[in-house]
Amino acid sequence: MDLIKVSKTYPPSVHALVDVSLSVRRGEMLFLTGMSGAGKTTLLRLLCRSETPDKGLVEVAGMDLDRISGSALQRLRRRIGMAYQDFKLLPRHTVAGNIALAMEVAYRKPTFIRKRTRELLEKLRLADKHDTPAGELSRGEQQRISIARALANMPDLVLADEPTGNLDRETTTLVMELFREHEERGATIIIATHDRELFSHGTDRVVELRAGRLLAPGEEPEKEGESAATVKEEAAR
Ligand SMILES: Nc1ncnc2c1ncn2[C@@H]1O[C@H](COP(=O)(O)OP(=O)(O)OP(=O)(O)O)[C@@H](O)[C@H]1O
Ligand SMILES: [Mg+2]
Repeated sequence: MDLIKVSKTYPPSVHALVDVSLSVRRGEMLFLTGMSGAGKTTLLRLLCRSETPDKGLVEVAGMDLDRISGSALQRLRRRIGMAYQDFKLLPRHTVAGNIALAMEVAYRKPTFIRKRTRELLEKLRLADKHDTPAGELSRGEQQRISIARALANMPDLVLADEPTGNLDRETTTLVMELFREHEERGATIIIATHDRELFSHGTDRVVELRAGRLLAPGEEPEKEGESAATVKEEAAR
């Protein structure tokens, strides 16, 4: 996927993204980091066309999302799995029902849906919640269901918005393993997070948004409590 010089302003004048250019190759995992309000969710929403940019080009799977037809967009969306920051589960539907819905709209066969639902619930250690209404689950459980739903269709592009915000270390590891499995299968994975422990420095690809702008590659994120001047002073010593 590619973003080329993308800007997004919310009325009246919130510059959520400013001139952002970013390329993610097929099968790559990218961590999108930055402080609260930096524009992470907005960027993910542009990639599934829940939002449209004011300026710039958004391309997913070689298609310009500004010019795509309605039916092509529908087909493309079936190949994208989005785990929302606020989960967006149907509280009265069962856990299995919530996960199944994503596959039903993609015309999956009932046998596939049943098998895939059980497989995901087992991996996320929620097999015993199969028939529980989603609204009765804890926040961490709901978060895992939203991730299961995003992955249900074996999507080519996974957009995960702060997917471990409500999870403990052990459960976070479980979820990250599942993402890595899908990466190995060839899926492109974009994870928005401010949890710096989620990625390993040096091996994972990490980009940082700051007030809607993407830091240039190699540009060091400012450490908390350290001004640019003190960093320079230290470097000079
Ligand atoms: N629908 C909207 N209408 C108006 N302003 C919005 C809307 N959505 C987001 N914003 C603003 O755009 C900016 C970027 O928001 P965004 O949700 O993309 O940030 P974020 O990096 O995901 O933050 P967080 O880490 O808190 O989830 C913020 O200033 C936010 O207040
Ligand atoms: Mg967000």
